[in-house]
Amino acid sequence: MELNKKIKLKGEIKIPGDKSISHRSVIISSLANNNVVIENFLYCKDCIKTIDVLIKLGVRIERLNNKLIVYGKGIKSLREPDEILDVGNSGTTIRIMSGVLAATDFMSILSGDRSVNIRPMKRVIEPLVKMGAIINGRDSNTKAPIVIFGNPDLKGKKFEMDIPSAQVKSCILMAALNARGETEVIQHKVSRDHTERMLKHFGADISFNGKCIKLKPGKILSAGGIYIPGDISSAVFFIVATLILEDSHTIIKNVGVNPTRSFILEILKKMGGKIIIRNKRIFNNEPVADIETFYSKLHSIKIEKEYIPNIIDEIPILSVAAAAAEGETTIRGAEELRYKESDRINSIVSQFKKLKVNIKEKSDGIVIKGNIKFSAGGGNVESFGDHRIAMSLFILSLLSKGAVNVLDSDCIENSFPGFKYDLKKLMVH
Ligand code: S3P
Repeated sequence: MELNKKIKLKGEIKIPGDKSISHRSVIISSLANNNVVIENFLYCKDCIKTIDVLIKLGVRIERLNNKLIVYGKGIKSLREPDEILDVGNSGTTIRIMSGVLAATDFMSILSGDRSVNIRPMKRVIEPLVKMGAIINGRDSNTKAPIVIFGNPDLKGKKFEMDIPSAQVKSCILMAALNARGETEVIQHKVSRDHTERMLKHFGADISFNGKCIKLKPGKILSAGGIYIPGDISSAVFFIVATLILEDSHTIIKNVGVNPTRSFILEILKKMGGKIIIRNKRIFNNEPVADIETFYSKLHSIKIEKEYIPNIIDEIPILSVAAAAAEGETTIRGAEELRYKESDRINSIVSQFKKLKVNIKEKSDGIVIKGNIKFSAGGGNVESFGDHRIAMSLFILSLLSKGAVNVLDSDCIENSFPGFKYDLKKLMVH
């Protein structure tokens, strides 16, 4: 797709379901003891991989119109898969499912695409082994493929998280559901808490307040239905586009505004963005709202390490906002970005430079000198197969007077299949 000309965004849309919550909804429903109807499930490539893995483990899952029905029969109903469990590009699937599989009584192998198989897995293997799991991974037990010899006699443990990762935390909690005794997780920085909220919704014996999570196994999980809120990490592409394109005004309906995810809105507001949260309500333990955004003259911001875990997926698009904001924006303490679907620090800097953004790479972050009259260059840019890099480049290209060609943009399907369609729907020339 090539974009150029002077463009603004106008209108009202509803973006698709949240990716993190969609993964958790189908995994936890499979471990429940009743049929669960999931509405607004995100049918993106990553979440479909999670469904495929669960089907290979013997779970019955059906799609009926826009609803997903999961016939949960508890962890004991899972059976040994007769093939490798392929997670594709999905780090969330491999990390959370490794916690589920560690507590079974059979062997399984999890593997992904090139990107997933070079991402760090020691962070999930180590805590699971401490609970009594038997796991072998490539590269001295640090990378996928990983082979899990299930142990139905795992022991609950106390963990202090050294990396603020929701995937690692969720992996531990999944294993803890089927372990002996209590598991406690202390997190110095609170990462997204969708697993905790959903387990509570399903009746698990879990308490979580700020930094401390305690889970006791033994409760039978059940829930009638789940409605998945819209994904704030997808909504933010259009929110930033609205903020930086003169005369724009959009409303995005039904967006998840869980405080462990919505900090990006606070940051954009601090940069001068006019964003109004309307009609706040709760769907199955998750806060949801409509988000109204107006074109705004943005200014730069300094982002320190403590804020990174709560905006980790939004840094590529925040960098677009920074390019169109007056002054120097610094993002530091963000080395985790190097272990995402691509090395995101390098992907952002190398591709934004091609579009004439004044940007510098640091070992742990990015420095961007922006201005409100910023006009991007044109030409070919690469996504490195990383969905959030591809979408950020699309939004950045809206500031270009020339044609920009985002190569290898199929990866957008991993998280936001309707992105190009929704963007076109909002675009006014
Ligand atoms: C996710 C957690 C985050 C995030 C990822 C989704 C999740 O990863 O970047 O896109 O659903 O738990 P980490 O746990 O590695 O920080």
